[in-house]
Amino acid sequence: MTLTLAPMEGVVDVHMRDILTRIGGFDLCVSEFVRVSKGILPAATFRHICPELDQGGKTASGVPVHVQLMGGEASLMAENAAFVASLGAPGIDINFGCPAKTVNRHDAGASLLQWPDRLHEIVCAVRRAVPEEIPVSAKMRLGFSDKSLFLENAQAIEAGGAMKLTVHARTKLEGYKAPAHWEYLAPIRETLSIPVVANGEIWTVEDFDACRNISGCTDFMVGRGVIARPSLGLEIANRQDKAFAWPIILDWLSYYRNLIMVMDNDVREAGRIKQWVKLLGRSYEEATKLFVDIRRLQTPDDIQVFLIK
Ligand SMILES: Cc1cc2nc3c(=O)[nH]c(=O)nc-3n(C[C@H](O)[C@H](O)[C@H](O)COP(=O)(O)O)c2cc1C
Repeated sequence: MTLTLAPMEGVVDVHMRDILTRIGGFDLCVSEFVRVSKGILPAATFRHICPELDQGGKTASGVPVHVQLMGGEASLMAENAAFVASLGAPGIDINFGCPAKTVNRHDAGASLLQWPDRLHEIVCAVRRAVPEEIPVSAKMRLGFSDKSLFLENAQAIEAGGAMKLTVHARTKLEGYKAPAHWEYLAPIRETLSIPVVANGEIWTVEDFDACRNISGCTDFMVGRGVIARPSLGLEIANRQDKAFAWPIILDWLSYYRNLIMVMDNDVREAGRIKQWVKLLGRSYEEATKLFVDIRRLQTPDDIQVFLIK
């Protein structure tokens, strides 16, 4: 069994990866997407999204961080993949799942799921461009507006040379609306010979068990679930249903506050803390109350007063 921390733009940055991999349970992280739309991006852009590139491509607790690229032009994707591999990325992941309108209008992310041959072309080009020892993987949804191409897309990605495929078990049109359709993962797993990583709507160990039973997968990715319940990775790895007590969460919030002070922008830093507290509200009543107390505060220092036990 492997567990991967999901890429989440604007949420799972270097600091959140640091915290969640320190807490434990994760074998791998995937960075927020790097948008590839013209030319080779500067090294600083890759280092901004994935500062771990300067520490051997791993989080402080030693979990590798693969860099995710998103774009629709195969040759550009390939050039950028080769470049970020030369900067020390331990793996490259290709995003075929982003539902954002601005992204899809510009021919990237989930919109590419309408054309299996284009997925194939992009994966092929990236695979050819990076050294053999660097794994290339992809992440897709079940389709764009419907699921009719889900198997073709998965097969196209495998045939392109991906060594692993993560499937967020919903279409682009379904957005983030529950449920995730784990039942579609079984035929993909049975058809492909590469590992299929199950993703979507795993919030508890119980959800994890249901997803495993329905999909038959042995590899999983969790995103929002572990932001809302930071012990989820550990709970899954140790097979125990026991969330951290609230005072432990307060300690991690204070730790997070210290880490994000490098952003050097009070409002942004405060915004990040509020965002996490809001998401914690899904698992902790205390977080819902805390959010009410801090939602109008503009600086991390003002918020810190409320993080003391
Ligand atoms: C705020 C947010 C940002 C996301 N950013 C990315 C991203 O950069 N790349 C990507 O492949 N998926 C991204 N996703 C999708 C997640 O990786 C994941 O597939 C999705 O949230 C379903 O998993 P979950 O139910 O465990 O959260 C994002 C999701 C959210 C909610």
